[in-house]
Amino acid sequence: MLVMALAAAPVEGQQAPARTPVPAMERLVDSLLALMTLEERLGQLTQLSGQPSDSGPRVRAEDEARIRAGRVGSFLGIYGAAYTRRLQRIAVQGSRLKIPLLFAYDVIHGFRTIFPVPLAEAASWDPAAVERSARVASVEATGHGLHWTFAPMVDIARDPRWGRIVEGAGEDPYLGAALAAARVRGFQGTDLAAPNTMLATAKHFAAYGAAEGGRDYNTVDLSPQTLHGIYMRPFQAAAAAGVGSVMASFNEVNGVPMHANADLINGVLRGRWGWDGVVVSDWNGIQELMPHGVAASRAEAGALGLHAGVDVDMVSEIYGKDVSAAVRSGQVTQHELNEAVRRVLQAKYRVGLFQDPYRYSDVEREREVTLTADHRAAARDVARRSIVLLKNQGKVLPLSKSSKTIAVIGTLAADAGSALGSWSADGRKEEAVSVLDGIRRALPSAQVLYARGAEVEGTDTSGFAEAVRVARRADAVILVLGERREMSGEANNRASIELPGMQEELAKRVQAAGRPVVVALMNGRPLAIPWLDQHIPAILETWYLGTEMGYAVADVIFGDYNPGGKLPVTFPRATGQIPLYYNHKNTGRPSGEKGNTSKYLDVPWTPLYPFGHGLSYTTFTYSTPQLSRRSMRATDTLVIQMVVTNTGQRAGDEVVQLYLRDDVASVTRPVKELRGFRRVTLRPREHVTVTFTLRADDLAFYDRRMNRVVEPGGFTVFVGGGSSEVKEARFEVTTGAQLGDARPR
Ligand code: BGC
Repeated sequence: MLVMALAAAPVEGQQAPARTPVPAMERLVDSLLALMTLEERLGQLTQLSGQPSDSGPRVRAEDEARIRAGRVGSFLGIYGAAYTRRLQRIAVQGSRLKIPLLFAYDVIHGFRTIFPVPLAEAASWDPAAVERSARVASVEATGHGLHWTFAPMVDIARDPRWGRIVEGAGEDPYLGAALAAARVRGFQGTDLAAPNTMLATAKHFAAYGAAEGGRDYNTVDLSPQTLHGIYMRPFQAAAAAGVGSVMASFNEVNGVPMHANADLINGVLRGRWGWDGVVVSDWNGIQELMPHGVAASRAEAGALGLHAGVDVDMVSEIYGKDVSAAVRSGQVTQHELNEAVRRVLQAKYRVGLFQDPYRYSDVEREREVTLTADHRAAARDVARRSIVLLKNQGKVLPLSKSSKTIAVIGTLAADAGSALGSWSADGRKEEAVSVLDGIRRALPSAQVLYARGAEVEGTDTSGFAEAVRVARRADAVILVLGERREMSGEANNRASIELPGMQEELAKRVQAAGRPVVVALMNGRPLAIPWLDQHIPAILETWYLGTEMGYAVADVIFGDYNPGGKLPVTFPRATGQIPLYYNHKNTGRPSGEKGNTSKYLDVPWTPLYPFGHGLSYTTFTYSTPQLSRRSMRATDTLVIQMVVTNTGQRAGDEVVQLYLRDDVASVTRPVKELRGFRRVTLRPREHVTVTFTLRADDLAFYDRRMNRVVEPGGFTVFVGGGSSEVKEARFEVTTGAQLGDARPR
């Protein structure tokens, strides 16, 4: 019997770790600051973007002169060992103060070897796998001269219309916090100055995912309890894990655009949490303070950004060109400016550039670390872990490898580009394995028939007849449906999350051919697919799984890998149910199908697939949870144990989930909230005792006055393999407490 102990994931109340002061760094930074002209200081805060060219991304001709003049501190989107070395040489040999450049890029889910999109990785519920993915990305990216990635994206998303839901860990702050910390560890390692680790960026600070209507960049208006208790938590976890940078978000929060939000950046992030890293603007975010309507000029926008604590100006060039007068007049203080410059120089020091500016620009290492067999194997492993079996009626899956004829239908099946997902850095679609290719490789002696069926969008049905013809000839049909990768990600929102185009029609025609049908979904957001759920026996959520996608999907379809992923986000039945998330409040008239309850007339109020849902080719049972005590003070710990048994015929993975509800409190509390999880692997008939420990932090919430409190009273614990398949137990808190990390300013 295995015994698993679980430490709680980073939670609210944790401070960023106090860094050991590095006197050498402070001396160097002080001496540089003393020497720097105003223009050179503003230059350190200026980030310029590379331009695409036939030989890869390059700086503009005039930018080399700016490097020489000390007017630029970092570049975005420039990489390549030889080229970054060349630019670095200009900075350290050609500029007056010889300050090295930082090279940054969006290395979000892989650099050349592409891993699953972050939402998919979150479905693995496997922080170690997610950490490995970020580690590999960091090894490849730093081998190409990069020092800094704009990841992890840790925005909570409760609205699947929002295209950027694909870039985060879904709807839950606890899972989001655990994965934020894992990604930070993966990118940054234990030594930021090592040549294969890079500065990570928690983004987008803050509440970017709460855009009204699911429209990217839109207004955010949130209660302080939800802002701090839900949206801030993954940021706090990233800060506690020592993330080196944070990116401000495009949105406003309660009337104040984040690039001007001194209360949240300087106040909460730096002040209350004690975090000491560098804050970078989002693309042109300083300039966008003007259309937001809080700045009348570029100079005003720049001053607001510096007051708020946004250190680096990504591409708007306002800091470099428009704020010197404000500094001279004292509108921006020397102290404010110097602190921003100090943080940029500290970041450069921490990644090791003052010891060796060429450390990351090593042509030989670049060759050695790119798309290695090990990296591809890691990508395939994480991809398999990220697949969720949504439905498997009559055990249609796994399909037999001895099938003679398999039909693969759907444009997406052959779309290796979409397999790469929303951000693909230097990933190449020629190197990615489509679902169709993966299936062909898995069944070398079977006949694999392919028909495109329908485009993802549009009204064309001319491919239907061929699709039906190949379906009729096959032992089983694999129908690949969903969205092209361009249908999620930045600014790619959808007003309807139903299957686009004629794909549902195609599914109806193929299903009517009478062969067993498996649907593999490729998508960057939850989809509302009630017809598929009702009529198709087996449905796999395969997201966008990266370079090795086709192999991973074939591994699952033909039973070489038993799927164990769980949804990190709720799947509604219809767009009109949005927002729909598991940790909702009960209301005074809790949802039910009849009477005056919180419901709809036209669809059930429940989700199609709840948060935490996912099946396996085997089955698991749970014992009733055993509690170490029935009553506790807030200062005590509570140990919860349950036995999970594999009752089926195959080895498999289960994600054991622990939820908690504060039954009666001074403000309303969610019906349940995730407070622990563990992915375990069990052989047939094997069992495991899983142990979770709850502490005050797990029980706390923000009360009416925004104090973080644990209140006395009853709590319910739920354990199970999904948020709606649970066993319960109860306990009492006899003495409450007020925790640190009190009121937001
Ligand atoms: C996105 C960021 C990204 C930045 C740089 C922006 O448009 O919002 O997430 O890091 O561009 O590419």
